Amino acid sequence: MIVILDFGSQYAQLIARKVRALRVYAQILPCSARPEDIQALRPEGIILSGGPASVTDPAAPRMDPQILQLGCPVLGICYGMQLMVHLLGGEVRPQAHSEYGRAHLVSISPHQLFAGVPVGSVVWMSHNDAAVSLPPDWETLASTEGCQQVAVRHRSLPLFGLQFHPEVHHSRHGQRILRNFVLGICKAKRTWRMRDYIAHAIEETRQRLAQSPADARIVGAVSGGVDSTVLATLMHRAVGDRFVPVFVDNGLLRKNEAETVRENFRKHLGIEVVFIDASDRFLEALRGVTDPEEKRRIIGRLFVEVFFSKLRPHDLLAQGTLYPDVIESVSVKGPSATIKTHHNRVREILELMEQGRVVEPLRELFKDEVRELGRELGIPHEMLWRQPFPGPGLAVRILGEVTPERLSVLREADAIVLEEIKAAGLYHRIWQSFAVLLPVKAVGVMGDARTYANVVALRAVESVDGMTADFVQLPWKLLARIASRIINEVQGVNRVVYDISSKPPSTIEWE
Ligand code: XMP
Repeated sequence: MIVILDFGSQYAQLIARKVRALRVYAQILPCSARPEDIQALRPEGIILSGGPASVTDPAAPRMDPQILQLGCPVLGICYGMQLMVHLLGGEVRPQAHSEYGRAHLVSISPHQLFAGVPVGSVVWMSHNDAAVSLPPDWETLASTEGCQQVAVRHRSLPLFGLQFHPEVHHSRHGQRILRNFVLGICKAKRTWRMRDYIAHAIEETRQRLAQSPADARIVGAVSGGVDSTVLATLMHRAVGDRFVPVFVDNGLLRKNEAETVRENFRKHLGIEVVFIDASDRFLEALRGVTDPEEKRRIIGRLFVEVFFSKLRPHDLLAQGTLYPDVIESVSVKGPSATIKTHHNRVREILELMEQGRVVEPLRELFKDEVRELGRELGIPHEMLWRQPFPGPGLAVRILGEVTPERLSVLREADAIVLEEIKAAGLYHRIWQSFAVLLPVKAVGVMGDARTYANVVALRAVESVDGMTADFVQLPWKLLARIASRIINEVQGVNRVVYDISSKPPSTIEWE
């Protein structure tokens, strides 16, 4: 097995998952783990994760340096590499220019770690600090244009460091490098198989319900998205009618969303969904609010209030929380930074969690794994391959105040984007494609008259798991068509712009 020490990385679980994909078991431990505890696990190798801190900050998370002397190979990634360099006598310094996103390996020394990785390979960076001098007996393995020490190693001990993130999908040969480390250098045996999530989750759910009073049910919110659809199908299979799926119309949905969801569940899965129309309450609560986190909090809280009205005293709550939803709110085991407060981690739900009344069978999974699970459950393709849509809905795509008028503008623009993306045959090839209503107005001219109207941004990204993403280079003709249709068909819009940022540093949603 491989031990992953978590220094608060957004990506620790992703590293674990990439190791699992090699059929090698991986366990995440906090960075404070003691050397003897690690040794007791007899790992074949150790990976030090990245993290948001700077090793130059005295309060930054550390590790016991003895861990580097346990004898098994160690691979430090980003912060993990910098910490090794720092602990062993090299120097790490903040850089004048931070480096986020794509970079190319311009030189690579021949070494097992980089076997099969060509010069020019794209790697994904996310760092402010860099190693400016290496500890004694260390040498450079690879460089990028902006970073000399992008891969380093000890000359005789099996200690390695990577400044980039091999675990993210956008590092082109990242999995190859992890494979070289785990199978080649650590010589880990490929004995672990992805456990049968379905059987395991069903068994666990039945047991949870069996331990609850006889009148208890499992209540779960469904949105029509992949996660809650897979969750609902799984729960329905586990406990039949004792699972109650509830759909809350928060007024922040896309065009025709509610009807489509109701119909899909009925027709394809034979599950009748309980509907609550709470749109007035949501819009009322959001009136005058412009701060993104405040909006998310309000929506989360109100959702819980409305949804909880369906929850009886002994009922359990099922949530389709995925790993990225958890990691960007709070770290599982380490000191990860809060990026956005996801709606399934608001206080009321945390309280229910403390009472042991929350069931989250998908919480260790990533989107592509959930789809795989859904396929095995027999969920139709068109339900599984819907693009993700965030819980707070269009509210996080309306920058500034959410009003019925602005919602209507965005809803129409969004419908056009989806229609055109589908017509171009791109819907299933793109992770997400949507419109964002900006909080600025621009001057335009229509029919010889001056207009002063809204600006809509288009965002289309490709991603495998939502953790990293790159903008899609949509054909100009398609972009022009979408822009022209929005400006002509949606009242109150006179300008359309295209978002060409990657994640990191930009998130997929604008708020
Ligand atoms: P970001 O914007 O953080 O989004 O790069 C990553 C993925 O998560 C979705 N997202 C959410 N999903 N509740 C959700 O269920 C949320 O509060 C939420 N916020 C973002 C986003 O659409 C993207 O797919």
